[in-house]
Amino acid sequence: MFDAGSFVTDQIAAVSSKVKGKAIIACSGGVDSTVCAVIASKAIGDRLLAVYVDTGLMRKGETEEVKGMMSELNVNFKIVDASKDFFSHLKGVTEPEKKRKVVGERFIRCFEKEAKDFGAEYLVQGTIAPDVIESGKDGKGVVKSHHNVGGLPKEMKLELVEPVIDLYKEEVRQVARHLGIRVSERQPFPGPGLSVRCLGEVTPENIEIVREACYIVEDEIRKAAKGGKMELPWQYFAALLPIRSVGVHNDERVYGRTVVVRAVLTKDAMTAKCAQIPFAVLETISSRITRTMGDRVNRVVYDITDKPPATIEWE
Ligand code: XMP
Repeated sequence: MFDAGSFVTDQIAAVSSKVKGKAIIACSGGVDSTVCAVIASKAIGDRLLAVYVDTGLMRKGETEEVKGMMSELNVNFKIVDASKDFFSHLKGVTEPEKKRKVVGERFIRCFEKEAKDFGAEYLVQGTIAPDVIESGKDGKGVVKSHHNVGGLPKEMKLELVEPVIDLYKEEVRQVARHLGIRVSERQPFPGPGLSVRCLGEVTPENIEIVREACYIVEDEIRKAAKGGKMELPWQYFAALLPIRSVGVHNDERVYGRTVVVRAVLTKDAMTAKCAQIPFAVLETISSRITRTMGDRVNRVVYDITDKPPATIEWE
């Protein structure tokens, strides 16, 4: 039986004995990285700098939310706006693995710079067990390169510290609850952010569409769950597909984009069942998305695939 309390005590001791100088942590505001930031901060105090990189690929309102949360948690913390750098390197990249590598590499470059400025020699990461398993070993069995595993350049000069590498998501949540972190129940969000929910080229315009669509899906599903119309799925979001189809908006022909709604039930993200969203909720989502972005999005579809054969994200 997993004991969150002794896990925290052990990890604080492990981080403080491993990290001799200063460390930097990539803090996305998600459960995994926030748990690691709090553990590392308890271990080494202000010798830790938590860096939140605004990649331009984050969800609506996320940067402001993370800022508020990190201040509450008393972690030494900085926001870096790197969106221009991310978009310029993602220009023309459509292949999913390449996207993940590019995002992973930009992250690392950004951290290397921040680490140098801060004088850090260690990089704390919120890698969890499924990230490592799905990224494969020696190129074998790769499902997808999780950006915090497969994207690491070989010459990376920072020593890695990964306090939750042996844990599954539910255990990380237990640790978060134990630490009183309010993101403990927040749904997971992939390291490469909205880039892997934007099939085809990642441009600021495409990201804007998927950001708004994700927000609408999250908002409507949360409202429906609160109103007792459905159980809250484990993860629920939208992805933008790289196809166009013909539709009509304000009596004008629109050759528009398609948004797919995805919601799953799972325990550990290794396998998942498609979550059943009531049809009335799907209709509300669809009409709100097409009403809000009718000039660009004219179709909303619903993904009813389990994992396997699909994965949870589309890329
Ligand atoms: P997939 O799509 O592989 O996703 O079935 C399993 C879970 O992992 C999340 N995910 C990621 N998390 N870095 C992460 O930290 C990543 O690169 C990454 N890719 C996917 C995904 O949202 C789901 O919860």
